[in-house]
Amino acid sequence: MRTPLIVANFKMNLGAAETAAYLSAFVPKIAALKNVEVGLAPQAPLLSAVGKGIEGSGIRLAAQNCGVDRSGAYTAELSPVLLKELGITWVILGHSERRHVYGESDTLVQNRFRAALKEGLQVILCVGETLEERKAQRTLVVVARQLEVLGSVGWPSAFDYSKFAVAYEPVWAIGTGETATPEQAQEVHRFIRGWLAENINPSAAELIRIQYGGSVKPDNAGVLMSQKDVDGLLVGSASLKADGFAEIVRNAVESRR
Ligand code: PGA
Repeated sequence: MRTPLIVANFKMNLGAAETAAYLSAFVPKIAALKNVEVGLAPQAPLLSAVGKGIEGSGIRLAAQNCGVDRSGAYTAELSPVLLKELGITWVILGHSERRHVYGESDTLVQNRFRAALKEGLQVILCVGETLEERKAQRTLVVVARQLEVLGSVGWPSAFDYSKFAVAYEPVWAIGTGETATPEQAQEVHRFIRGWLAENINPSAAELIRIQYGGSVKPDNAGVLMSQKDVDGLLVGSASLKADGFAEIVRNAVESRR
């Protein structure tokens, strides 16, 4: 049984004071919940403070990106060594905003992935099609192409694949209020699981968590999570309020009972 993985991606939102207030509200709200892995991805300058704020809570610290090398002349990039030092567990790579707004290519995503793995960081790899691609019935082709980066990322030997996750985030559902139907999500998640079984191996595919992302809210979290191959959620806008995100986590856990 895969433990649900529910991660808040704050993106470029929530300042220092807002984040502190968020943590005081959020941490106690989910303290009693079991059988769920929860992560918070704040803005990079707040990683340290959030790390302190969640100490002892079991909540994981997540970064929104990761540099391609241990250190060096890479202005504005985040060293995986520093991320590790700050106690980061998960890094989100290949987010569609990175791909579409900042032009990150599959090759760049792959280089980031390799650097993260080398330092023992756990990767959430985001994949997903645009509206045009979906309309042209190219969803699975696009997702398969984005998954190709896994081909040579250099998995350590005897790698524990529960420490890797794929987030299926249809670009047309991100920040738009429009959510994929549970059936649309399940169709792509099943495809991803099949791809992982074929291209990594079947036991890895059983361990890898596949999250759904794109306008997840408290009222659709449960139904999305009740799909067979939906193992978690990556939440943007609805994670910005401590109450709302705690409700999403609760509903996700409930749906698994
Ligand atoms: P959203 O963002 O929940 O605001 O749609 C999701 C994401 O980009 O991870």
